[in-house]
Amino acid sequence: MPISVTRAIAFASVAGAGVALAWKKPYADWQREEKAIRQDIREEQRKARISQSSSQQPRGLSRFIPPAVAAIDAAAPLTLMQSIGLDQWRGELCGQATGRVLEVCVGKGENFPHYDKASIEELVLTDVDGEVLQIARERSRQVLEGLRVETCQCDAAGMLPFPDDSFDCVVCAFGLCKAEDPIEAVREMARVVKSGGKLLLLEHGCGSSALINTWLSLSMKQRFRKDGCFYNRPVERIVQQSGVDILQLRRRHAQTQYMVVASKKEPGALEAQRARKELPRLARGG
Ligand SMILES: C[S@@+](CC[C@H](N)C(=O)[O-])C[C@H]1O[C@@H](n2cnc3c(N)ncnc32)[C@H](O)[C@@H]1O
Repeated sequence: MPISVTRAIAFASVAGAGVALAWKKPYADWQREEKAIRQDIREEQRKARISQSSSQQPRGLSRFIPPAVAAIDAAAPLTLMQSIGLDQWRGELCGQATGRVLEVCVGKGENFPHYDKASIEELVLTDVDGEVLQIARERSRQVLEGLRVETCQCDAAGMLPFPDDSFDCVVCAFGLCKAEDPIEAVREMARVVKSGGKLLLLEHGCGSSALINTWLSLSMKQRFRKDGCFYNRPVERIVQQSGVDILQLRRRHAQTQYMVVASKKEPGALEAQRARKELPRLARGG
């Protein structure tokens, strides 16, 4: 009898986990959720300033919440999982970069070993952090020896300091998660890429399973506080909403890692699309 109870519990757990994993839940209002987190953090900082000045320490159960959430985050197997096969994806993405290439949010040049130097005329590197950009510049001299490399410190979330249509490809790996307005950031990348050029994006974001998204949401605030990163954004929707054409979209690791190849819409494409949608209505009306 105890065995059958154990089996029943095991069966129920496996079935429950299966149902939870299969339960697809779209991430409803990510912008509202992020705004609430930013406000919460501002409020916490304000309270911390007051308690510091009156030398009060947090009391009660609330003092256990941040360490508990940090433990959840540290234990998150997704972080580990997302590093598996990452170099292969970097290679597949960056291998498509040709001509005059812009990399935004370059970091310390994690993508450099994955570029095909022979296909690139010039690489322009940007990051908001000057020190990081300096590291990237020095690393590029070793890893991309012989390639023309320029650097430009700028914020990918604002207006990029380049004219329209100035690059054949724009690469961004794990940068959209940091931009205050990721939709605007993709629009800017699309503005500076030439018609027929490519946006090459690698990103982490929400999965399609409610269970995984709930897990990610639990540590979202903690992660944002630590890294300034919203790692569970609905990347596909963000790219779609920025108005580019998605040429290729791949997802893996419980759908939480995204590789996107996109291009800017051709001039007049939107109008043509609208016209196509309106045609049946006009036909019915007529
Ligand atoms: C997670 S790292 C990604 C680094 C690298 N691209 C990679 O593939 O690993 C994010 C980088 O984006 C930069 N960053 C963050 N916010 C930014 C912004 N608003 N504009 C430009 N760069 C930003 C950070 O300084 C950091 O170097």
